[in-house]
Amino acid sequence: EGGVFTFDPGYTSTGSCESAITYIDGDKGELLYRGYPIEQLADKSNFLEVAYLLLYGELPTAAQLEDFVGRVTNHTMLHEQMSYFFRGFRRDAHPMAIVCGTMGAMAAFYHDSTDINDAWQREVATIRMIAKMPTIVAWAYKYSVGQPFVYPRNSLDYASNFLNMCFSVPTGEYVVNPILSRAMDRIFTLHADHEQNASTSTVRLASSSGANPFACIAAGVACLWGPAHGGANEACLRMLRQIGTPDRIPEFIAKAKDKDDPFRLMGFGHRVYKNFDPRAKVMKQSADEVLGLLGIENNPTLQVAKELERIALEDEYFVEKKLYPNVDFYSGIILDAMGFPTSMFTPIFALARTVGWISQWKEMLEDPHLKIGRPRQLYTGPTQRDYVEVEDR
Ligand code: SDX
Repeated sequence: EGGVFTFDPGYTSTGSCESAITYIDGDKGELLYRGYPIEQLADKSNFLEVAYLLLYGELPTAAQLEDFVGRVTNHTMLHEQMSYFFRGFRRDAHPMAIVCGTMGAMAAFYHDSTDINDAWQREVATIRMIAKMPTIVAWAYKYSVGQPFVYPRNSLDYASNFLNMCFSVPTGEYVVNPILSRAMDRIFTLHADHEQNASTSTVRLASSSGANPFACIAAGVACLWGPAHGGANEACLRMLRQIGTPDRIPEFIAKAKDKDDPFRLMGFGHRVYKNFDPRAKVMKQSADEVLGLLGIENNPTLQVAKELERIALEDEYFVEKKLYPNVDFYSGIILDAMGFPTSMFTPIFALARTVGWISQWKEMLEDPHLKIGRPRQLYTGPTQRDYVEVEDR
């Protein structure tokens, strides 16, 4: 029952989409970017190198990476006119609303990179979006806290530049903590791509009509915002704070198991993973490392998260339904320790996922066979019938 979708070419007969970028084995808890395990990339690589891998299919040589980083670095500024766009929002607007609106507004500024049939313009749009997303997200944060915009600095690496744009203020010298910069870069890598999740499918479907690339990415931002998807990191930290102390965990576990209660354990469960989300394992290690280096390893929220994970993984409901922590379970604890408000968690997810959205957009446009078209449906409404005048109803 319900709408069973059938798909145009570009989807295999099972209704799944073809792509060579990211592989997930939900039962084994495996995630590969172009064949490389996420654990190795998180440990040995960095976000822009991973971006190159996702976009072009291979790890770059030193010269290729230097050229790619140079092109991204030199496009981090926004058109100055866009700064006025931010000022049109209410100060208390959610940063995701600002990011979504501003990314869409880029369609009005960068006309020389919107012809999706032109390979060079696609490349220019690709670099612009990866380069400018940190500035958009940082300025959305600055606007929401009433602080002046901080311009990007080409002397800083990608993650450090983002932290500097978020936390430096004109009244003093902000020195980027290398521990936080490394942790930020790793969070970007862990969120870069994830196969055909809801927001990536949104970008693919929007792009299949030939729409403006910036507008398509804005559609992906909108979809990611939902609490069942990218908004879960914000909802998860709120939940952990609401639980407050380990002794209250059983009360929330009971709510999560109650079919009549809409409450779900945020940061738990996944449409694909029926085993540990490998990103959650790396994120948990990173949380321990970062909070330890910051001297806040006894952070009560981290303690509640670890105890909640332990109890849930021993509970037959979660074991039977194969519910494990996902990427959103520990990420908020790290971002909170960095000084970000919960409202910035999903914009940071969107910043990182822009690389995945763009990689999948590029792949689809470069191979017409992969272009997904108009999904069909199994109609379950009334059969044909004649109009009835209002007096006869
Ligand atoms: C992301 O697709 C992606 O790849 C997404 C993502 C990415 O990188 O793009 O990985 C990022 O979105 C991660 C997911 C973040 N969302 C949350 O953490 C929100 C909480 N989780 C859920 O809402 C839920 O787990 C979903 C939406 C993620 C998946 O829901 P499903 O498809 O219903 O999960 P399922 O089919 O595996 O559920 C099986 C059962 C169901 O009960 P029954 O109908 O069998 O009785 O488990 C229950 C669900 O109700 N269940 C939960 C639960 N998640 C599923 N019960 C309590 N708490 C939960 N978190």
